[in-house]
Amino acid sequence: MQEIKTDAKIIFCSYSELGEEEKKLISSAKDAALSAYAPYSRFKVGAAVLIGSGDIITGNNQENTAYPSGMCAERVALFYARSAHPESPISILALAAYSGGKYKEEPITPCGACRQVLAEYEKSQCSDIKIIMYGENKIYIASSAKSLLPLAFTLE
Ligand code: THU
Repeated sequence: MQEIKTDAKIIFCSYSELGEEEKKLISSAKDAALSAYAPYSRFKVGAAVLIGSGDIITGNNQENTAYPSGMCAERVALFYARSAHPESPISILALAAYSGGKYKEEPITPCGACRQVLAEYEKSQCSDIKIIMYGENKIYIASSAKSLLPLAFTLE
């Protein structure tokens, strides 16, 4: 029997340690969270995606009374980025969540389905996507989507 070792390096830092670009993306994700359509969970998530052209594309969660018809903030932003700018690689995705009248203190981390979408775009563009997971008290940064989803599904 053999073993496959997977490795996930997650940086854990405070807001003041971030660069200007990262702060700007977090601010965009926080703004986007406020306009989420989340009447059922009241858990508002915002995502901001930086693409190669330098544009920032935002998205937020969109819920529906037929629950599975809703969509996470990450995929709203990622699908729009990839559909409107198919040639522009995605370099960073920042995430923030707002509920109970305040931004969450703990970092918000992408769900499994969003990780799968991130992993596929990362593979197709041949460059890593950095993921910034914002919380008021601490921030996690993963240097790639594959580090958050070892053994992601592919047709190979
Ligand atoms: N949600 C996201 O937008 N992103 C995630 O990564 C996890 C969950 C949304 C889905 C739903 O509208 C609400 O958060 C509560 O689960």
